[in-house]
Amino acid sequence: MTDYRFDQVFDRRPTSSTKWNKFPEGVLPFWVADMDMRAPPFLLDRLKQRIDHGILGYTVTPPTVVEAFIRWLEVHYRWSVQPEWLVWIPGVVTGLNLATRTALAGESLHQSRRSACRGIVIPRPVYYPFLDVAENSGGESHLSDLVRSGQQWIMDFDDLDRCAKDSCLFMLCNPQNPTGRVYTRVELQQIAELCLRHNLILMSDEIHCPLILDRELQHVPVATLSREIEARTITLFSPTKAYNTPGLSCAVAVIPDPVLRQDFLHARAGLVPGISPLAYLACELAWSDRSDWLPAMLDYLRGNEQRVRTVAGARMTPVEGTYLAWIDVRDLNLADAETHFVNHGLGLSLGEQFGRPGFIRFNFGCPRPTLQAGLERLAAALSSPDGVFRPT
Ligand SMILES: Cc1ncc(COP(=O)(O)O)c(C=O)c1O
Repeated sequence: MTDYRFDQVFDRRPTSSTKWNKFPEGVLPFWVADMDMRAPPFLLDRLKQRIDHGILGYTVTPPTVVEAFIRWLEVHYRWSVQPEWLVWIPGVVTGLNLATRTALAGESLHQSRRSACRGIVIPRPVYYPFLDVAENSGGESHLSDLVRSGQQWIMDFDDLDRCAKDSCLFMLCNPQNPTGRVYTRVELQQIAELCLRHNLILMSDEIHCPLILDRELQHVPVATLSREIEARTITLFSPTKAYNTPGLSCAVAVIPDPVLRQDFLHARAGLVPGISPLAYLACELAWSDRSDWLPAMLDYLRGNEQRVRTVAGARMTPVEGTYLAWIDVRDLNLADAETHFVNHGLGLSLGEQFGRPGFIRFNFGCPRPTLQAGLERLAAALSSPDGVFRPT
């Protein structure tokens, strides 16, 4: 395999990086979900060529990006989608919020329950923008806690059934941020059945799907389970996590049902900016990629995950997908977790942000020298008074 020199450390502070400019200098950031490695050389070269053209005007959606995406879905997931099912948006978070507005206000599936239905089913802990969508759209979050079962975080389907009453939307994150779960076909089937039973629209954020670390597992787009579930699903994709181009905002919503799609387009109308030509190009190149860059990156991330697990031990479950470790620090009884970790030189995401205090999320998408320094700090920060962690 090509040596992509993922160990190389770059100074990101001069680039106004969200990740590197939040905490004081000297604190190593392992929070927001972007990686500290360069995007693939083939992608950077093509972006440079595009810049050399010199004109960066408004752009329509290039047919080549549509073709690349459709082929990618077909090749990786055996999902045949039609070009007209796609709605382009400048980010998955935009998609989460548009999906919510679509479900709450839309004419589709829910016409008979429109005025009554405000509920949004959200398993948590979850990527924090999920927890804001209800407030943004006048809905009501019906939250259900994931449960740790051995080495995995799983859904509590009895509780989800309770949450689904008086709801119109289920918000799935798969692979799951922050727990790193990659849901099995059986689990997805249960979610699909719940949505069908309660007549819910299913929003599925699958942005992390190229980042499967567990070699035994495969990502399954929930919409591929059946035509019935496909027809009530809004699936959100973007290659920006896997190819580390999240600053080049671009995502796509796959909405097979024409009425649901119309409602989504209506929610988007006039509010959501277009996508930049560079962002479209980066997506097209990522979805067309046949090189060994992503396999090499996945191997590197697997190595990083093992190193994190060596330090965090039973506090974390193995990361099946994503580059995010969800670490239990409840036993430390930290009154101010942020200060505790910053005092140890670590900038982390705190559990409360995801709806689960007492945990931290550690982003291990970084070169090994940075990781090594961070893990030494983490080991010190995790040393509880008696030096022994007991999962509760
Ligand atoms: C699950 C998930 N969805 C969406 C996003 C953000 O996507 P975007 O930058 O396209 O809005 C992230 C970024 O961390 C994420 O982890």
